[in-house]
Amino acid sequence: MGGAPSFVLKIENPLKKSGSKATGSKKGSVKNIAAKKSVAKTATAVAKKKPKTVRLPGHIYDYPKYYDLIFGSDCQAELDFLQDCFACFADRKIKKLFEPACGTGRLMVRFAKLGYQISGNDLNEKAIDFCNRRLEKYGFPVSAFVGDMCNFKLKKPVDAAFNTINSFRHLEKPELAEAHMRVMADAVAPGGLYVLGLHLTPLTEAKVVEETWTASRGNLKIRSQMWLVDRMPAQRLEAYGMKYEVTKPNGREILEDQFNFLTYNVKQVLGLIASEPRWEIASVFDFAYDIQTPMALDDQTEDVVFVLRRIE
Ligand SMILES: C[S@@+](CC[C@H](N)C(=O)[O-])C[C@H]1O[C@@H](n2cnc3c(N)ncnc32)[C@H](O)[C@@H]1O
Repeated sequence: MGGAPSFVLKIENPLKKSGSKATGSKKGSVKNIAAKKSVAKTATAVAKKKPKTVRLPGHIYDYPKYYDLIFGSDCQAELDFLQDCFACFADRKIKKLFEPACGTGRLMVRFAKLGYQISGNDLNEKAIDFCNRRLEKYGFPVSAFVGDMCNFKLKKPVDAAFNTINSFRHLEKPELAEAHMRVMADAVAPGGLYVLGLHLTPLTEAKVVEETWTASRGNLKIRSQMWLVDRMPAQRLEAYGMKYEVTKPNGREILEDQFNFLTYNVKQVLGLIASEPRWEIASVFDFAYDIQTPMALDDQTEDVVFVLRRIE
């Protein structure tokens, strides 16, 4: 079990604090009452100045603007790497792309700007709406749709697909992951690619995981944390906590969420890929996204990007 840092939110209420001071004073005299009044006045003034903190309902993916600010600003390495993969490993010209679990479409919109035809799906309606509004804003077709990455069908197969940052591990059961590999083989044309990035659980002692990101745009600042809450090896699940702390000129917002990721060791992920015979492994990389440096898989491997090629 991973140790979860305790993120206890302290919302200080200056009125209550000062009030308790006031109630602590001895009863009776006019002086005491005046003192109480003046403490109350000061407390009200402080309360007015103190930015309000609001707890946001829902899940982290329900706030695409925040997600995109944190994760959507630094995509260049992924874009370059994916295009290197298209050039090095595909047996067909790559023009049409598909991203399962596309979220806000941070990569989709950039690929559209590079001249690719792009589409994607995601379970989250708010993310899909954000993605489509942005595509529209830049004059591209509205091409993201609400859908499940293990149960969808494209009208026509695409030349390549990608799924880079563990999204695939949201499929919490091995049979769902297998269904995903099948529908992706239907979605990608022969000679095309599926680039799949995920974090593997090494066979040696796993690290305690905690990551923090910060981002800002104008007056909006976000701090995001993700940490391992629990490991459930029998179900091959890891529970993660995730938190956004958003600072705006008129107050703060806090959102805490929890989700599960299915775990994979090397053997399990290779077994999954082998479960769909229309995929072959063209190459393997790590999250450094360096096309010059393919890697060999072993029991210690953690971050891995499979370049899968669709065969007949
Ligand atoms: C970490 S985000 C990644 C989004 C995007 N791929 C990116 O790289 O920014 C994971 C996304 O997976 C989506 N998701 C989770 N389960 C899904 C499923 N079964 N089918 C489609 N999308 C799913 C979530 O709604 C979320 O938008």
